[in-house]
Amino acid sequence: MGNMKKFMTLCLVALLALATLAAGCGGGDKKDAKTDPKTEKVLRIGTNADFAPFEFQDVNGKEYQGFDMDLIRAVAKEMGYKAEIQNINFDGLIPALEAGNLDVIISGMTINDERKKKVDFSDPYYKSGLSIIVKKDDKSINKFSDLKGKKVAVQIGTTSAMEVKKIEGAEVKEFNSSADTFLELKAGGVDAVVNDRPVNDYYILKSGVTDVRRLEELLTSEDYGIASSKKKPEMKKQIDAALKKLRDNGEYDKIFKKWFGNA
Ligand code: ARG
Repeated sequence: MGNMKKFMTLCLVALLALATLAAGCGGGDKKDAKTDPKTEKVLRIGTNADFAPFEFQDVNGKEYQGFDMDLIRAVAKEMGYKAEIQNINFDGLIPALEAGNLDVIISGMTINDERKKKVDFSDPYYKSGLSIIVKKDDKSINKFSDLKGKKVAVQIGTTSAMEVKKIEGAEVKEFNSSADTFLELKAGGVDAVVNDRPVNDYYILKSGVTDVRRLEELLTSEDYGIASSKKKPEMKKQIDAALKKLRDNGEYDKIFKKWFGNA
């Protein structure tokens, strides 16, 4: 009997040793450590995902898509972060960054002096400008100054809102999203929508609307930048370095072509 007991104890020790070895192996595996969500650095990205082709959600409403989304995922990867995207109202983005709830903003956000007081911007990553869309049969609006006396839909907190407010006699109606501005034009609640040109063009191309047109005139020339906190200046440097790398290695061009063709 004594022998049997000894044998059993030995077996147990062997089993324990094996188990420890197996656990040790798993834990020590480099690949596993890298993808472990607890150890990976997360980049908290804020966007307003209603701005195709820069940021939007697919029809099922989950996956974030667009030029900005592809770009920031590539930037985060370069920086060694896992990208975590949050969808918030456009006018809530800078306050969320200032409050420390976000690390970066990418949202077709135009670099301007007012915003520069609150956030750091990366080097410009896209050249844009504002354009107008109107109903096709409305021949009374052909340039920005024609917006005088007209009802104009814009998204809250955007450069469009700022610029249209400068046009004397234009009645500005502000909405939470650019989708809402398009709906308002369709419903006849406004005479025009002012928005970033690529977004207006994408809407006309993809939504199937046939009764609107985009005016040729551009009101502004604007540069988009990725915003980060003034309290973490090294973040801007890392973003710029990542952007430069992506421009140098052709990745930026690949993403650009995917969304804008050769335009
Ligand atoms: N470029 C404009 C701005 O900075 C509009 C950006 C709106 N972006 C968005 N994702 N809704 O004000």
